[in-house]
Amino acid sequence: MKLAVLKETDAGETRVAIVPKSISKLKGLGFEVIVQSDAGKNAAFADDEYTKAGASIASSAAEAMSGADLIIKVNPPTKEEVGHLKKGQIWMSQLFHRLNEELLGDLKNAGVSAFSLDAMPRISRAQSMDVLSSQSNLSGYKSVITGADHLGKIFPMLMTAAGTVTPAKVLIFGVGVAGLQAIATAKRLGAIVQATDVRPECKEQTESLGAKFITVEDDGVKTEGGYAKEVTAEYLAKQKEAVNKSLAQADLVITTALVQGAKAPILISKEQIELMKNGSVIIDMAVAKGGNTALSKPDEVVHHNGVKIVGVSNFPAQIPTNSSELLSRNIDTFLGHLISDGKFNWDMEDEITTGTLVVNNQTATA
Ligand code: NAI
Repeated sequence: MKLAVLKETDAGETRVAIVPKSISKLKGLGFEVIVQSDAGKNAAFADDEYTKAGASIASSAAEAMSGADLIIKVNPPTKEEVGHLKKGQIWMSQLFHRLNEELLGDLKNAGVSAFSLDAMPRISRAQSMDVLSSQSNLSGYKSVITGADHLGKIFPMLMTAAGTVTPAKVLIFGVGVAGLQAIATAKRLGAIVQATDVRPECKEQTESLGAKFITVEDDGVKTEGGYAKEVTAEYLAKQKEAVNKSLAQADLVITTALVQGAKAPILISKEQIELMKNGSVIIDMAVAKGGNTALSKPDEVVHHNGVKIVGVSNFPAQIPTNSSELLSRNIDTFLGHLISDGKFNWDMEDEITTGTLVVNNQTATA
């Protein structure tokens, strides 16, 4: 079987789906690996590291794809790449398939099968294959570092001959994968950290990291499959009340609230931003899904009333070496799950396969 690794095409994307370290694992699964030239360059993986690991290099996407059984990329294919697909091939990347109906139709028409990496079910068995979790984890770290960079203050308490510097106060909305790492990172840097989430089980996790949990007294929220479902307007009103004091004292606020399959909830209104201190910073991690504040804009820094609202839509691309390493590990583990005895062996009873296989072309499954 031949596996092609493509170079990313999205503006600002620096990751690569497979790093040299995964090549021997992929060969062990029965793949001959072809990497598009410079695919790993922006993540600090040179072509010769791939060849040393046993892959070959193709000069273009078309060349890499021709004759490949499986084609892998981080982001969805371009129209041009879809044009190079041949019947029976298998495509694997993030596809965000619920938002990309047209692309799904194009893949179906091309006669290929496609796996959407972002559709991995959030179950413990699939954790090692879950690209959203691995990327969120790193992004939670980077969100705090970015916030620290925008602040005119340091995080830790410092006693100096010239006086004592008080520690920064950090408030985190959403204690999922990104939020937990953000709490841990802010604590490591010496900040005083508070966090809130709609899921009551987050209290214990927050406290175990040495941060304070802000509980919203309301039962207007339900969870399903490890994800929060949409909350009631009444809950959001109570949450505002519960967090406003902390918001007014915070130096850095990080928002990571996500409701699966829905637009990000607005948790901080314009009026609440106006309660915040001059010089404070908000990092909105949910900006690509509409944002958790009323004023966030993707990949812009909005200044309002002395507060900086920073919307970063692709944190993993700012730390491409680590994010590619984890992605690649997720993908090689996933392929290990899908392949046995050197052949694809899709178990249509398995929720990992059925959850991610968003285009199923029968000839490819044969
Ligand atoms: P997650 O699903 O693990 O965590 C989201 C958390 O938000 C959950 O714990 C959920 O209970 C909580 N939540 C939902 N509604 C809430 C509300 N009204 N108030 C407080 N908490 C609420 O998601 P994960 O992986 O941690 O990602 C978080 C967000 O960051 C997502 O929007 C994701 O798309 C985004 N993200 C952004 C990146 C970037 O580069 N900007 C990179 C990775 C993730």
